[in-house]
Amino acid sequence: MEGAESTEHRAGGEGAVAERTRPRRGEELELEIETLVYGGRGLARSSGYVVFVAGALPGDRVRAEVTKPKRAFAEARTLELLRPSPDRVPDSCEHEGEPCPGAPWQGLAYERQLAHKQEQVDDALRRIGGLDGFELEQIEPAAQRWRYRNKLEYSFGEREGEPVLGFHARGRWDVVVGVEDCRLASERGNEVRNEVRDWARAETLSAYDRRSRRGILRNLIVREGRRTAQIQTRLVTSPGRFPKPPVDLHTVIEGPSGGTDGPTGVLGAERLAEELCGLRLELSHGAFFQTNTEMAERLYGVVHEFAGLRGRERVFDLYCGIGTIGLTLAADAGEIWGLEIIPEAIADAERNAEANRITNARFVAANARTGVGPLLEKAGRPDVVVIDPPRSGLSQKIVRRVIECEAPRIVYVSCNPTTLAPNAAQLGEAGYRLRRVKPVDMFPQTPHIECVALLERE
Ligand SMILES: C[S@@+](CC[C@H](N)C(=O)[O-])C[C@H]1O[C@@H](n2cnc3c(N)ncnc32)[C@H](O)[C@@H]1O
Repeated sequence: MEGAESTEHRAGGEGAVAERTRPRRGEELELEIETLVYGGRGLARSSGYVVFVAGALPGDRVRAEVTKPKRAFAEARTLELLRPSPDRVPDSCEHEGEPCPGAPWQGLAYERQLAHKQEQVDDALRRIGGLDGFELEQIEPAAQRWRYRNKLEYSFGEREGEPVLGFHARGRWDVVVGVEDCRLASERGNEVRNEVRDWARAETLSAYDRRSRRGILRNLIVREGRRTAQIQTRLVTSPGRFPKPPVDLHTVIEGPSGGTDGPTGVLGAERLAEELCGLRLELSHGAFFQTNTEMAERLYGVVHEFAGLRGRERVFDLYCGIGTIGLTLAADAGEIWGLEIIPEAIADAERNAEANRITNARFVAANARTGVGPLLEKAGRPDVVVIDPPRSGLSQKIVRRVIECEAPRIVYVSCNPTTLAPNAAQLGEAGYRLRRVKPVDMFPQTPHIECVALLERE
């Protein structure tokens, strides 16, 4: 093949030599998808090469473009679905004829989504972590397969001089497909988004264009208190003069950044009220909150069970956000110590403790990297450490800080089994045994996986 690098490797029996041809960037391949790997991409093989294909499901035959040819494998993105898998279920969330980018697994029957997630947790722990001897419990299915998200972030684009509000087309930062009804959001959440879009059209405002660095409208974030029915909207724009927008919060961003964080003015409700596990909570717009309220309750239920509290324990709630996990454990513990890097989230946690008359919970605004040591000195040794880090997991250094806590139990809430695995392996070397792992499906129609792991000191 012209311009392609070739390597040879032994395949099978004596003397059998197979050609492995490394595909080139931009090359188009026809591929049969065999299975799904962590992150949701399809696995296919081309001339002995493993190719990870975005936007394809097992059983599909696709035309795909190679985006990253590497030594051992290549990455590609689907250009055309040549023959859909016979197992595909019809897409039910589409925007302007495109499958919803927020629901890349909607073509997979729900039971198969669950089976893949279960398998990927097992695979990550065994293959990456080299772990065994643990009990992998059956994944908890989601209470609602659609309309479960309490937060969605939309982008503005422009078509024929009019603003459109929706999602970036898959793999395209410069194209926005308009959304009328997204089945990940509630009906009310959809109405509210469309009202803001209609206001923008009536005011003939322009969308921000990152190439020319001109225009006003950037993003709209819609958050919803599922139990309180409160909706909170935050509009993100460039600086400019225009009539007061019909939203709760208005963030102004200068420069070409694609982010949504910046100075924010309050026009309506500053905080969002929600109820969770019988607690009344309030959250600032910058604070993390689980995006599936109903399943967050189930997740915290598993944490409660794994923590095995008897009423007197000292619990560290590391990466505590607005304090949700610690506050739901407080009634059955002696004392709770929450630690979190965002000061606004810590202020929310303190307010939430007070509002719910919880007096045995304290919160510290600190980076886990430098804050766990001082917390240990101040509070004393914990009986249980709960950890709920971002997708990147814990650095080796933070794992060492956790080990120094010498807690008999660690309950690790993970949104990425491939980072849980090495963290659990490092804890294993320090004498912790991985006992139980329970996946909980927080994100139907997507490849995202959440699970809770219990580790005990031997
Ligand atoms: C997955 S969220 C969990 C929040 C909370 N436990 C909950 O269930 O709502 C991870 C949290 O870790 C915080 N975080 C990220 N990096 C951190 C760090 N280095 N030290 C402390 N907290 C951090 C984030 O701000 C976020 O609130």
